[in-house]
Parts: sequence; structure tokens; C-alpha cells
Amino acid sequence: MQVIHTIAQLRQWRQGVERVAFVPTMGNLHEGHLTLVREARKRADTVVVSVFVNRLQFVQGEDYEQYPRTLASDSDKLIKEGVDVLFAPTESELYPAGQQQYQVMPSDLQNELCGQFRSGHFVGVATVVTKLFNIVKPDVACFGKKDYQQLAIIQAMVRELNMDIQIVPVEICRAEDGLALSSRNAYLSTQERRQVPQLYAQLRQMVQAIQQGNRQYQYLEDEAVKQLSALGWQVDYVSIRHVCTLKPAQIQDKDLVILVAARLGTTRLIDNVEVYI
Ligand code: PAJ
Repeated sequence: MQVIHTIAQLRQWRQGVERVAFVPTMGNLHEGHLTLVREARKRADTVVVSVFVNRLQFVQGEDYEQYPRTLASDSDKLIKEGVDVLFAPTESELYPAGQQQYQVMPSDLQNELCGQFRSGHFVGVATVVTKLFNIVKPDVACFGKKDYQQLAIIQAMVRELNMDIQIVPVEICRAEDGLALSSRNAYLSTQERRQVPQLYAQLRQMVQAIQQGNRQYQYLEDEAVKQLSALGWQVDYVSIRHVCTLKPAQIQDKDLVILVAARLGTTRLIDNVEVYI
């Protein structure tokens, strides 16, 4: 595996390569990231993974400084997966002027769900992903359903800006007790780690209710907030939406996704589950 730190070197390498599948990450890789890498491997002979902790997508007061940076062990994991190139640019390589003057403005969806609580976050995501796409020039790029709103925003961006890249959604990778794997799980205390499967359990309970014919979506959302709050969670939202548009679910919709964001102590977790009626 080649480890490349500069845009110039990456571009030079790219000239000799035909089809590339790409997995953008912020590092501290776990099995969730590696499922994306395996999916990428199926889609092209050459796989590029990027590791870059993108300051632009962290909102003030968030964990940018604290975010785990583990490039050496990330690199070992990617070698085992047979990745061709690890692209790990420095901050000054991607943002030489310090601040990024040109930014990619996603649709209004960026202000909903997580966007309500992380103002500007998706501008930061869309901007860095566009930059990485322009550098790596992938044919295919894999994104996890774990970050469902991010995936929807990237899909819309690629469609509306006519980027010639196939976006491949990848299923959520979970621990045995249901917790969706995330780099931020490392922040949980032992006691909290025992408690966090409650989030996925709550989603499963809602899925069951919907599959049994309950269409009182607002009621189901309110109940879920109540139950999680009673267990000590600070809930940002529980929302039942249409899978493609992420608009609030209507009674006639058949393809739904339930999204949740909640904090336990200082750790903010997100999760979701699709429901097909
Ligand atoms: P990061 O949080 O490192 O995630 C990188 C990719 O891995 C994303 O597509 C995310 O959805 C996916 N992923 C994370 N945990 C997963 C899990 N448990 N199961 C399946 N996929 C999972 O998302 C980002 O980085 C950044 O916003 C990025 C797109 C790299 C832009 O900076």
C-alpha cells in the first residue's frame, strides 16, 4: 500500500490508473469503515482510502481537537484489506489558505435533523468531499448508512452538480448488542457503554409498531423521546422520514427510515433503521 500525503503525488499516481473506488474517512478505523473498504474492493480493482480529520465540519464546541488520530494503526488495517493507496493529507495541504473561501452549499436538508444541532456541519462535509473527489477522481465512492443524512446530501450533491461518480450506500455495521460502530463510541464510560444499546432497541421497537400497522408517526416519535429521556438520554430528535427525500413520513409512504440523535453524558450518538411497509 502506498501512503500519499500530497495532492501532487496523488495526482501523479492517479494518471496511471483506470477505475478507482474511493472511501473517504476521518480515520480511527473500525469494522464499519472496513465494510466500506470491502464494498469498494468489489467495485474496482484499485481502492483509495482517505484519512483526514476535517476541521471545517466540526461545529464550535465539538470534539475536533479530541478526535482520535491513529494513522499508524489505520494504515495497518488498510494494508490487511489490500488497499492500494492511503491518502492522508495534512491540514495545510487541503486548506492552504487557512480558510476555505469557496464552499459547497447543500440543499435545505442540511438545516434539518442533525443540521439543526450542528449548524454548518454539512457545508463542511460537502466541501471536503468535493475537494477529495476532485483530487482522487473516483469512479465509485462508498458511504455508510450510519450517517444517513450525510449520505443523502452527498447523493443529492453528486446528482445536482453532475459529478460523474457512482455513490454506493453501505449497511450499518453494529456491535453484537446492536450499537452502531463509531469512532465516538470510544468516549463512552463503561457504564454508558452498557446502556447505549437502548438507542437501537428503541428503533427496533418503533419498527415493530409500524410493521404492526401503527401510522401515528408523531405519537411514535414523541413516545420514543419520552422513553429515552426517562432512561437518561438527552434526545436531539427521533424522526420518521421518507428514505429518499428525508421529508417527514406521510401516511401513504411505504419506504421509511427512522433517525435518532441523542446524547448520553457528553457523547452524542446517531443511529437509524429503514422500514419497508
Ligand atoms: P467517518 O465518520 O470517519 O466515516 C467514514 C465513512 O464510514 C462514512 O461514510 C460513514 O458513514 C461510514 N461509517 C462509519 N461508521 C459506520 C458503521 N458503523 N457502519 C457503516 N458505515 C460506517 O463520515 C465521515 O467520516 C466524514 O464526514 C467524511 C465523509 C469522511 C468527510 O469528512
